[in-house]
Amino acid sequence: MQLLDGKYVSEKLKGEIAHEAANILAKTGRKPHLCAVLVGHDGGSETYVASKIKNCEQVGFKSSLVRYEADVTEAELLKKVAELNADADIDGIIVQLPLPKHIDPDKVTEHIDYRKDVDGFHPINLGRMQRNLPSFIPATPYGITLMLREYGIETAGKHCVVVGRSNIVGSPMSILMARNTYPGNCTVTICHSKTPDIKNFTLQADILIVAIGRKNFITADMVKEGVVVVDVGMNRETSTLTKSGYKLYGDVDFENVAPKSSFITPVPGGVGLMTIIGLLKNTLSSANKEVYG
Ligand code: GUN
Repeated sequence: MQLLDGKYVSEKLKGEIAHEAANILAKTGRKPHLCAVLVGHDGGSETYVASKIKNCEQVGFKSSLVRYEADVTEAELLKKVAELNADADIDGIIVQLPLPKHIDPDKVTEHIDYRKDVDGFHPINLGRMQRNLPSFIPATPYGITLMLREYGIETAGKHCVVVGRSNIVGSPMSILMARNTYPGNCTVTICHSKTPDIKNFTLQADILIVAIGRKNFITADMVKEGVVVVDVGMNRETSTLTKSGYKLYGDVDFENVAPKSSFITPVPGGVGLMTIIGLLKNTLSSANKEVYG
């Protein structure tokens, strides 16, 4: 068993990103600029956005944060997004999800200029990704492809089973793994809440990507010997054992699944750190006008 080490890979790629950001600054006199919008005070969202901002600083990006209370109206939020779209100093815009129930996340996502949509959630980016055209790729699936590439994981002809079909992870991940490129060229199966006998499918996986949001959902009896396991789970539980007051658990029973795996991501220290890299790389591409000119 070998660990797919998000800490090692993300630090290495952050070094490369910082180098490119310095080149942009030298050439143009400006830093790549990411603007995050955070609505309300969800604990997970607060942590993720703070981490995105910290990472921007570390690689020499400019970042800004626009905050609203949870009772902000949808109209007010859409107006702010339009302002950010028009601001020539901003390369990338993200609106942290989930949003309060009275705000339609699809409406907000589609309001972001697709040329600044560094989350890759806009239908134009998703459609272009599906057709293998230049686009922003959703950060978590993008980060996972970078991780697979870093460890030279073979994917062509393999059976990739994706557990979870969310817009943010499972659905785009399944598209990426089936594309005619590396990593890709897999035979892909998507399992979700209506799949009867998920174990029947996970047992067939050469590559198993799990994003279902349930602690220890994948147990050792559900995987075959030699499987590559990517655990996207970020299940937060309060804990007296940590400084932060909570502890993160993946969707995979790591202790018992790891001995059967050829490669596996830990939680924490795996995919979560790679998500940030996907976001930083999209922001860099936007600043370089690499995707839309
Ligand atoms: N919520 C959970 N993951 C993400 C993400 O990648 N981007 C945004 N905007 N919100 C999220």
